[in-house]
Parts: sequence; C-alpha cells; structure tokens
Amino acid sequence: MKFATRTVHSGYDSNEHNRAVMPPIYQTSCFSHQHIGEELPFSYARVSQPTRDALERCLAALENARFGLAFSSGMAAIDAVLRATLKPGDEVVAVADLYGGAYRLLTQVMTAIGIKVTFADLSAPASLTPLLNEKVRLLWLETPSNPLLGLVDIAALSELAHAAGVRVAVDNTFATPYLQNPITLGADIVVHSATKYLGGHSDVLLGLVAVDDEALQQAIHFIQKSAGAVPGPQDCFLTLRGIKTLHLRMDRHCDNAERVAGWLDGHPAVEKVFFPGLAGHPGHALALRQMRRMGGIVSFYLKDDSFEAASRVAERLRYFALAESLGGVESLINHSYTMSHGAMPPEHKAALGIRKGLLRLSLGVEDADDLLADLEQALA
Ligand SMILES: Cc1ncc(COP(=O)(O)O)c(C=O)c1O
Repeated sequence: MKFATRTVHSGYDSNEHNRAVMPPIYQTSCFSHQHIGEELPFSYARVSQPTRDALERCLAALENARFGLAFSSGMAAIDAVLRATLKPGDEVVAVADLYGGAYRLLTQVMTAIGIKVTFADLSAPASLTPLLNEKVRLLWLETPSNPLLGLVDIAALSELAHAAGVRVAVDNTFATPYLQNPITLGADIVVHSATKYLGGHSDVLLGLVAVDDEALQQAIHFIQKSAGAVPGPQDCFLTLRGIKTLHLRMDRHCDNAERVAGWLDGHPAVEKVFFPGLAGHPGHALALRQMRRMGGIVSFYLKDDSFEAASRVAERLRYFALAESLGGVESLINHSYTMSHGAMPPEHKAALGIRKGLLRLSLGVEDADDLLADLEQALA
C-alpha cells in the first residue's frame, strides 16, 4: 500500500466497529467482563483501548514498523523511551542541537536518576565512535533539529551505534513519516510530537513511538501502562483525523517553506537562513538522500541580533501567530531563545547559535503570496 493510502486506511478495520467509516471515540475507562478471568482485547483504558489502538497501528504502518505506542504528549513519549531503554548508571549520547524540552528532560530529570548524558555534534558520523563505551546504551538523534534544522546521517550513525551494541532513537517530529522513515534507515525507535504535523491543526497534544522490535515494544508498553501518561480517546481521534491529510498538508508546507526560504535568503534584513533545501545548507546533500522533501520549517537570523528587532518582526506579522508550537495549518513564528528553547542554559544556546535574533517560522498551508507579502511588510 502506498503512503497516501496508508494515511487514510491504516490501522482501522470498520468491520470491527459497526462499519463506522471513522474510528469511533470509545469514551470509556473500562470494558465489562462476563466472568472472572475472561480474556478481553480491551479491559482497562490505561493499558489499551480501541481508539488509541487504531492510532497506534496507523503510526506503525506509516513508519514501516510493527508496533506503535501513544502518549499524552511528545515529552511523555520521549520520557517513556528513555525509561524503557536506560537504567541508573547507563549513559546516553545525544545530538547537542535538539528541542529545549528534550534537553531539559535529559539534563534535569534523567541525570537525577543516575543517567549520564553526553551532548555532541554528530554532523560527521565518525565523531560518534570515540564517545561510545560499554555504559552507553542509547543514541538520541533529532533530525532535522529544532530550531536550526541541523541534519545527521541516520543510516551511518545507526551502523556505528549498532556495532557497539547501542540502540538508536530518532525524534522524527520535523520530518514526519511522509518525508523520512528512521526505522527503514536503520534506527530502532522513532518518536513524534504528534502535537505538530501528525495532528496538524494545533488542537491536540499527543506523542507517538514506533518500534519494530517486540522486546522494545513490550518494554515501552510496560512504562506506558505503569506510568499511565496516555492520551484520551478524543485526542487519539483528532490525531487519526489529522493523519488522513498528512501527505496533502506536508506537500503544501514544503512548497511554502521552499518559497519563503528562497525569498528570505539574501533579504537585506536577514543575516542567514536555515533550511535544508538551500544549496548552502551544510546538510543539503544528506537531506536529498535521507528525506523525500525538505520540510515546512525555516529559521533565520536577523542582522539586528536583539530581542527588540525580533519582537518588532513577530508583532508586525499578521498571518504568523507568535506561538510555541509548529506543524499546524496556520503559519506560526517562534522566538526560540525565549520560547521553545527557554529551558536551555544560555551557554548551550550560545554554543549552538540560538541567538536573540533567531526566528523560526512554521509555514502553514496558506497561499505563499500572502505569506511573502506579510513577511515583506514585517521585515521592511
Ligand atoms: C522536535 C520536538 N520533539 C518533541 C517535542 C515535545 O512534544 P510535546 O510538546 O508534544 O510534548 C517538541 C515540541 O515542541 C518538538 O519540537
């Protein structure tokens, strides 16, 4: 089945649900047993329930994996993966350039339970090898990264990590399964903030994990049911509905991002544009190999690297809401220094290049001419 057909049909069999065309919202916490000891497909909604099950199966199909698992947020999904794969005394190597919330979880929550984290620039895969030792159990990748759109080579890094017995997890939020499939490239675990493109309409908070290995699925499901950070049926339904148009929306997000990145590149108020589709981007050749298209996010430095200049642009824009998120049908602008990466210490931000004059655009599905006209008046 081709991708566009999978987004519409995967994970759900209407014959099991009174032939309802859309997966019903099972708004129930429990399912009744006819006698003690009866084995039921669903018993208690924290452990599993049918609307969530349809979403989990759907994500697995989109990521070419055997299993999907749904959580109450992207962060809950990341937390479950870390807890399922690491124990006190273990170490994780993570890309330095990653979402601020993931940085906070790794540095403040995981280190507090005895897990050591090493951040590294892995844009050259060979830089991984000297960081591996017998205590490293997990490699954490995010590609393209938030907010600087840095890329790492999933296939090459997975090969090096696996040779040392290290599992590989990839945050695939920015690319989505439409543009990139980490498990097909050799990774073990894929994580999504489905709050972004998979949900796609800025109306749901949800996290997803896909794995191919049954032992991993069981370990992550054990955390899912034990800690209980699961999404409710309404949120699963909204995400399933969003996924049905993922391929259509992503193509428009990508079209708009290409237009906007090209337009910003060389604009007199702009110092530098970050977009893997630009030939000057350091990950451009890798993006052409690893991704089907370049994604819907464009970040840029203003020449005037100040809060005031960034605020002026954000406040003048009419179609881009100044908001923390991304991946919805409406365009958004984010000031990474204070918003998505507010939790990152200033020295880590400085080392990465997350400056006060950095703005991240999430291109929606509006008409590109209107978005360009809006940017033109805001940057004038
Ligand atoms: C790349 C990435 N991963 C994970 C998350 C966390 O997801 P959530 O906000 O759904 O918890 C985000 C949120 O912005 C993100 O951008």
